[in-house]
Amino acid sequence: MTRDWLRWHQDYDSAGSSLARRLVVVRDYLDRALTEAPAEEDGRRRLIGICAGDGRDVLPVLARHDRGRMVRAVLAELDPELGRRARAAVSELGLAGVDVRTGDAGLADTYLDVAPAHVVMACGVFGNISGEHVRRTIAALPALLVAGGFVIWTRGSGEDGSDPSTEVRACLGEYGFQEMAFTRPADARFRVGMHRLVAAPVPAQRLSQARLFTFV
Ligand SMILES: C[S@@+](CC[C@H](N)C(=O)[O-])C[C@H]1O[C@@H](n2cnc3c(N)ncnc32)[C@H](O)[C@@H]1O
Repeated sequence: MTRDWLRWHQDYDSAGSSLARRLVVVRDYLDRALTEAPAEEDGRRRLIGICAGDGRDVLPVLARHDRGRMVRAVLAELDPELGRRARAAVSELGLAGVDVRTGDAGLADTYLDVAPAHVVMACGVFGNISGEHVRRTIAALPALLVAGGFVIWTRGSGEDGSDPSTEVRACLGEYGFQEMAFTRPADARFRVGMHRLVAAPVPAQRLSQARLFTFV
């Protein structure tokens, strides 16, 4: 484990923190995605959460949408304690369709059984992996999503004023995504984007045994 991710999550509980503000945006985007993203004929959707943490950005939103009954979600998180907390929230919210997997989200095989998904969550990922792995992960998204599927992602800006979210947005454009929403507050370093796959998806099986990223 590269950082103390339990400690990292504590910032969510500081009112007005950048992370607490980011959470509001991410939940809002997911609310929108669960309304606007394509669905199966019976209205069901699938969601993949990569490096899901304790799931607080996803689980309450799923609970609001038809009590989560219409979404099958797989949340992949490496840290067992965060996974345990996510499972406790799943049980408290009565979300029968959510499977929290303690495993390596850098390996697509961890969640390939639910692909193609209608929504992929990639929050808190791109700032912790190399530029090459950001590109590799974005390049894999058309194999993880249905046509028109949504990805919600985050990326922080640098202390030196650099803003790597610009490259993330450009890369998503290169791999067939259209921007649906983007938040860049003037007084905080977090950025949140929501993109939709407008290019043709590629078969999920192509990702079998693929490594997308490793945290640095
Ligand atoms: C910055 S946090 C983001 C958590 C959550 N997505 C959020 O935005 O609240 C990064 C998370 O990735 C997890 N993580 C790191 N490497 C991982 C891997 N290879 N597979 C799955 N999870 C991983 C960490 O344990 C941590 O919970």
